[in-house]
Order: sequence, then C-alpha cells, then structure tokens
Amino acid sequence: MRIIVVANASEGGKAAAQIFSQELQNGAKVFGLATGSTPLSTYQELCNSNMDFSDCTSINLDEYVGISASNPQSYAYFMHQNLFAAKPFAHSFIPNGMAKDIEEEISRYNHLIDENNVDLQILGIGQNGHIGFNEPGTSFDSLTHKVALTESTINANSRFFSDINDVPKEALTMGLKSICKAKHILLIAYGKNKADAIDKMINGPVSEELPASILRNHSNVTVIVDEEAASGLK
Ligand code: F6R
Repeated sequence: MRIIVVANASEGGKAAAQIFSQELQNGAKVFGLATGSTPLSTYQELCNSNMDFSDCTSINLDEYVGISASNPQSYAYFMHQNLFAAKPFAHSFIPNGMAKDIEEEISRYNHLIDENNVDLQILGIGQNGHIGFNEPGTSFDSLTHKVALTESTINANSRFFSDINDVPKEALTMGLKSICKAKHILLIAYGKNKADAIDKMINGPVSEELPASILRNHSNVTVIVDEEAASGLK
C-alpha cells in the first residue's frame, strides 16, 4: 500500500486527480467510481481539468434500492451532478435500484464487471471500515449483492435527507471480491472520524470485521489521507 498524506481534502483531490491523469496516460479505459463526500474534491478537479473520458467506461460501486435515477438522493443523480454533466463517459453503469427483478440486475452487474476490467477504482471508507456498502461481516468472496444497511450507515447517510425515515434501508453494492478485481485501487479518507478505520485497515488484522482490510491482499493500492484521517497511524 502506498500512503499519501495530504493537508486537507482540497489537496487530496489534486493528488487523486493526478493519479487519474497518470492512469489515463497509461491507457486506462475503465474507471470504478464512488459517491459520498470523499470523492467530491477529486471530481471537482477532474471537472476542471482537460482530461477526456469520452472513450472511457465508468462503473459505480453502489446504489440505493427503491429510489429512481431522477431522485436527487440517488447515486445516479449524484454522479450526473458532480461528474458526468461536465465529464461524460462513453458508457456509465450504476446498479439499477428500481429494477423489477433485483436478482437479474445483480447478475447483469456481475457480467458488466467481468466484461469491463476496472483499471482504477476510487473508494471512500465508512467509519466502521465499510467499502461500497459492504458492512462488517461481509464475505471477502462477495460479488454484487443486495444489502440491508446498518443503523450506523443509515445515520451517517441521513445528513443528505431531510428526514431520517426517508433514508433507504437497502442498497445494491459491488462485493468485496468484485472491488478487488480492479487493477489499481485508490482509497481516500478525510477527517478525524475516519482515523480509527484507517488505522485498523492498515495495522489491524485482515478480517471480514473490517471490510477495507481486504485491500491489504491487493498488490496495487494507493491510500490518500488527510492529516486528521492519518492521526491514528502509529
Ligand atoms: C459510496 C460508498 C461508501 C462511501 C463511504 C464513505 O459510493 O460506496 O462506501 O464511500 O460511506 O462516505 P463519505 O465519503 O460520505 O464519508
């Protein structure tokens, strides 16, 4: 794991955008994308850059079940607002949380991931060590699946909703095995509330209790952390 410590999220966005740029120059065509607060400064940098993704494919990690792409809380809407409107990709895939047949949607997504080998996967991390919506206890062998969100994740996500009761209780997510198929993984974390998860990911046991610890079994992982998120590292 390469660990890059930056002063703040704005510097982290610049460092991450540089990695995107290097990957593009090296011929990367498939980018695995995440939502949430963490990638925002990275997407801002990409939007303001002259990078061109018009012959690339994007595959998003996850989506809520039961809200449509036109709902401002959906991850599809988030991606459009924060990246795709300014930087269109040739193909952009996000799990369809409105699919009538969720099992069929899961198998479609698994095929997509197999057919489009992700060159660079960007990840945030939850305070409990989740990546994607893979909560503690998720099998390291998991592929795309439907999850019931934990209370801690529902609480964390409620900041984006006017009423906590509106936060969806289920999501579709790429599994831990799916995520680790990416050739290069870039995990980013900012803020004191991520310090414990970052310390456990880097120094704790590789365990399904801390889903992000699976990244220690991957040969090409870059971690960008700000000083606060790095503050628990020995
Ligand atoms: C989002 C995702 C989640 C987030 C994580 C951190 O697509 O998969 O795992 O990366 O919950 O969220 P933020 O960045 O909002 O702290």
